[in-house]
Amino acid sequence: MPVLENISTLYTCAAAGGQNEIHPVKDAALAWDDGLVTWVGPRDDIPTSLRDEERLDAGGRLALPGLVDCHTHLAFGGWRADEFEMRCRGTDYLEIARAGGGIASTMRHTRAASADDLLTRSRGFLRRMARLGVTTVECKSGYGLTAEDELKLLRVYAQLKEEQDMEIVATFLGAHIVPPEFREDREGYIALLIDELMPRIAGEGLAEFCDVFVEETAFSAEEARRIFGASRRHGLRGKLHADQLSDTGGAALAAEIGAVSADHLEQSNDEGIRALVEAGVVAVCLPLASLYLNQPPMPARRFIEAGADVAVATDFNPGSAPTYDLPLALMLACTMSRMTPAEAVKGATILAARAIGREHRVGSLEPGKRADFILVEAESVNHWLYHFRPGAVSDTFIKGKRITS
Ligand code: NIG
Ligand code: FE
Repeated sequence: MPVLENISTLYTCAAAGGQNEIHPVKDAALAWDDGLVTWVGPRDDIPTSLRDEERLDAGGRLALPGLVDCHTHLAFGGWRADEFEMRCRGTDYLEIARAGGGIASTMRHTRAASADDLLTRSRGFLRRMARLGVTTVECKSGYGLTAEDELKLLRVYAQLKEEQDMEIVATFLGAHIVPPEFREDREGYIALLIDELMPRIAGEGLAEFCDVFVEETAFSAEEARRIFGASRRHGLRGKLHADQLSDTGGAALAAEIGAVSADHLEQSNDEGIRALVEAGVVAVCLPLASLYLNQPPMPARRFIEAGADVAVATDFNPGSAPTYDLPLALMLACTMSRMTPAEAVKGATILAARAIGREHRVGSLEPGKRADFILVEAESVNHWLYHFRPGAVSDTFIKGKRITS
């Protein structure tokens, strides 16, 4: 039962208290056994039963729970660097999409990719995410958009879940866009999602959540209601890409259908925010997408002041957020969305775990939870996200094991 000591400050990130409360413990120690935390507290209080156990030295660094990236589109084919250049020159994201680029472009590359290719690439992404401090990753389908290609993506996630110590959570996002071959037959595509795909996904246990992109260019609120009605019958809880590019009442819809989270929310109105708070829906802030698309960020302060739980994630995908750097997203949540560093940290630990139904297992350092934690070379979380630099997360432990490559 290893005991890690010489931790200058350990932040348990336990759920209790407001978004800014991350529960620091000065001069702390942490013990675990068989991949689970057994004891956390001040070094002076280490119980006598642990006195003779193996000691590890944190070198005076900070310790935090492993970061939880609660919104990624991990598996996809190709990239879209050409579109990035077009956007740099001023072409609009939606203009590119209307010309057959955007999500449809990644869809073509994803359909052409083999499951093996997608698996190899995803493993590489996960490895690098772990080095940045990420230990739990939510992964969405949504670039296949045929029955077989959506199943291919979800099976890649099932394989990753099987072979990795990282916690992997799969979300079905067949309702990302209506694929071009169904442009004249939206009902036909929705029927494919509801009547064919959902029963197979539920039958094989391939996803826990169902996500819908609610936007003028994707799905209407009414279509989303029907999709969520069906997903509920199949035991898939709801998540939404809501109010990203325009206010479509996505926040209120998330509340209405009892979604576990509503993500993006850059354009939400006050009424939507209130409804979301009342329904206990986690609001997920995705500052990298706002930055890459040069759009106004999600007004996280308004959400927090209204009483919402705000999670922070990368939205890693080849279009609007082509980076998986969650610490960078945390810094941007501070500078763009006006969260404090402590609020951002709580948003990428216990509140992100809540956004994917994992708060009982990950997201805080408390006895019984997974021994997923990181060491950070900084004097406080304020200093970490203020003096932002590569490699500040020096060590990542997953289930009590240090990641070495
Ligand atoms: O979360 N909003 C929809 N989906 C992604 C972007 C997808 C893409 O551009 O490929 C998002 O931002
Ligand atoms: Fe997304």
